[in-house]
Amino acid sequence: MIVISGSASPKLSLRVAKRLKCKLIKPEMSSFPDGENYTRIDADLKGEHVLVVQSTCYPQNDNLIELCFLIGAVKNLGAERITAFVPYLAYARQDKQFKPGEAISIHTVCKLIEATGATNFVTVDAHHEEIMRNFSIPAYNLTAMPLLGRYLSKLKLKDPVVLGADKGAIERARHVALEMEVEYDYLEKKRITPEKVVIRPKRLDLVNRDVVIVDDIISTGWTIVEAAKMLKHQEARRIYTACTHPVFVGNALRRIRTAGVKKVVTTDTIERKESVVSVASLISNVI
Ligand code: R5P
Repeated sequence: MIVISGSASPKLSLRVAKRLKCKLIKPEMSSFPDGENYTRIDADLKGEHVLVVQSTCYPQNDNLIELCFLIGAVKNLGAERITAFVPYLAYARQDKQFKPGEAISIHTVCKLIEATGATNFVTVDAHHEEIMRNFSIPAYNLTAMPLLGRYLSKLKLKDPVVLGADKGAIERARHVALEMEVEYDYLEKKRITPEKVVIRPKRLDLVNRDVVIVDDIISTGWTIVEAAKMLKHQEARRIYTACTHPVFVGNALRRIRTAGVKKVVTTDTIERKESVVSVASLISNVI
């Protein structure tokens, strides 16, 4: 097995290669004067199982095209199996037509990855499990929630409750709570515009309890901000948040901290300062 490090996932690639005790290759990448990308892998990959690790976080389109070029180059070098490990899968939230005529973006993204030569696909906490059905090759959606739960259980929280940021996140909250051996529930959320979210209070006794809000993605941060406001109103003690994908658009992190969230715990599917949990063990176990 050989690991190819995409430029969006250098730390994760290294962690995965270490865990798998295999060679790590950093491809040669540059741009032509007109802005087009150049990609070269200087290695003999004939007959190998190659793991291409590349997140499709911002700049999504550049990272996606890099992923496709890497897979194409690996294929041309004669690899026998090519596993595309895309820890954060961009466009996953556009998985249906919300209005007639819209592109189902994630469908095209999955087809692209497959068409360039991936023989297997692995991601982490895809927005919906159904996204995997866009692939004809074996495709696996792993979850980082137990890893986040394990991290949180070491924080010595007081009488903690784990809350899914919305109904869709209840399964994620359950995985975290199971690891922490605590109660879990979800928050009722209504999105008014892409930038405005209203959270309806649930009848939970949160008084003087530490609360962990769990979600797959933190993007603008408004979901967490609104939840934090409501939880403070319910006299929660300290508020934590944990997510798999720290998208963190603009001032999201500052906004969340200003709303009174004590700590943001996240993974290295997108490499940030807050990425204190690595998903490397997930992929190495599955490989
Ligand atoms: C939505 O369904 C997702 O699970 C997240 O709750 C959402 O993407 C978070 O977005 P934001 O941080 O912009 O509120």
